[in-house]
Amino acid sequence: MTGRAARKSARKPATRAHRDEAAARYMQLLREDHAGLSRVLREIDAQQSVLQSAPGAARPVLAEAMRYLLVYQHSIHHAREDQLFARVRAREPRLYHNMHRLVREHRVGQEVAERLAGELSRTPLTQLRGKAGQRLAQQLHQYVQKTRDHMRREEAVFYTGSERVLRASDWKALLTGPMPRDPARDPQRFAARYPRLAERMSRPQRDVTGPSDALSGTDLRARAEQVAERCAALLHRALDVAGWFARGVGGRSRTPGNDGG
Ligand SMILES: [Fe+2]
Ligand SMILES: [Fe+2]
Repeated sequence: MTGRAARKSARKPATRAHRDEAAARYMQLLREDHAGLSRVLREIDAQQSVLQSAPGAARPVLAEAMRYLLVYQHSIHHAREDQLFARVRAREPRLYHNMHRLVREHRVGQEVAERLAGELSRTPLTQLRGKAGQRLAQQLHQYVQKTRDHMRREEAVFYTGSERVLRASDWKALLTGPMPRDPARDPQRFAARYPRLAERMSRPQRDVTGPSDALSGTDLRARAEQVAERCAALLHRALDVAGWFARGVGGRSRTPGNDGG
């Protein structure tokens, strides 16, 4: 092997480790966003179920939850994913072809969230107790279900696909510039911006889903989603840690989940 070839081959593992480290940082951010989003979706589902019976209490929480979705998830998380998918498009157009639907869903989802937030604020309390409240509650429930389905498809196929096809230069570009974190990660900051929502989300689960004497289908779904959230968070963390140690970077750099990006 010539000196030049030897230098080139010695550089390869380091380049791969940098690429993997940058990819792990970016994907960790996206998965943390999903965890925060999932918790807020659970609260939206709990509040829509009492919108008709207790609109005076449910509406302010729902208003803050929709504002959180529009300010953080739709504006920052989806923009982050759109950038990721645009990079995939340049590297592997066939994979992007399937991602295109996700990008469209970002736009449609934002329009739906804006419309629901507007209707929620404009509809008088008396009408929320009637048919208008019932219709709005159904639409909020559908929005929650569709958003959960969207996240599942992203995590099951497209996040992994992105990690497979993107190169070090892609991850470097994606990590350039400010990387705002989900305000839900900082309880004080979250409570300052979304006080009612933060207060509700800090309660034990039985207070969110109602009395537990006889679990309804909605309660059981909420419990199952909560368990799934915890399992997903643990799995992500385990995969991140395993990946870091497999690459031999766990002991000499930042720990996963504490990247400050
Ligand atoms: Fe998305
Ligand atoms: Fe997402």
